[in-house]
Amino acid sequence: MNKITIAIDGFSSTGKSTVAKQLAKALGYVYVDTGAMYRAVTYYAMNNGLINESDFNSEALVYQLPQIDLSFKFNEALGYAEVYLNGLNVENKIRTLKVSSFVSKVAAVSKVRQKLVEQQKKMGQDKGVVMDGRDIGTVVFPNAELKLFMTASAQTRAERRYQELIERGDQVEYKDVLENVQERDYIDSNREDSPLTKADDAIEIDNSNLTLDEQFNKILRLAKMTIEDLE
Ligand code: DC
Repeated sequence: MNKITIAIDGFSSTGKSTVAKQLAKALGYVYVDTGAMYRAVTYYAMNNGLINESDFNSEALVYQLPQIDLSFKFNEALGYAEVYLNGLNVENKIRTLKVSSFVSKVAAVSKVRQKLVEQQKKMGQDKGVVMDGRDIGTVVFPNAELKLFMTASAQTRAERRYQELIERGDQVEYKDVLENVQERDYIDSNREDSPLTKADDAIEIDNSNLTLDEQFNKILRLAKMTIEDLE
């Protein structure tokens, strides 16, 4: 069977990673969460005193980029790959609201993007990959056979993210989560280098009113049709 590349882009908390994981499992493909890579670099910057609420030393971060090693290791129990920063599993550490509040600034640095995009291209070079992010269909894999662009209202997305954080035991306020979602939408869409935009040939999926099952079935159908069309 032909293997394809599936690019899933969209605003934060649109459920990209949920559907990407389901899809990768169903098709036997590799799932790559590129947001986790930007989050891991942000976590590095936080731990090394390069970013805080008032300052961001992006030059020092660029200088230290060669010391930042990112990798993924498949976790059998979870059924997906977790992200490692310099050999340490940081999968849980990168999902906090604090990392979310800095990550868009880090992701706007061109040299950071260059390094991560290069690594992402290598990870997908053999196809059979589902990659989610903001620039997958536009920059990383402009020739992906299937491109999806996920949307939902900011309120719907903030509610989902709020529930996730509460379930993890994080003490957060809904209004802070909503504010973070809106701020990231703005920075991610307005940065100079590869801003978040829908690729012309991407299929837009607004999942505000779709259940997870409905969304998954719809997208799996699209993937199977795309694969069949190639045969
Ligand atoms: O998908 P996420 O919320 O985990 O992504 C975290 C941030 O990383 C997001 O606010 C923008 C940035 N990002 C990016 O610029 N390009 C990508 N391909 C993936 C994420």
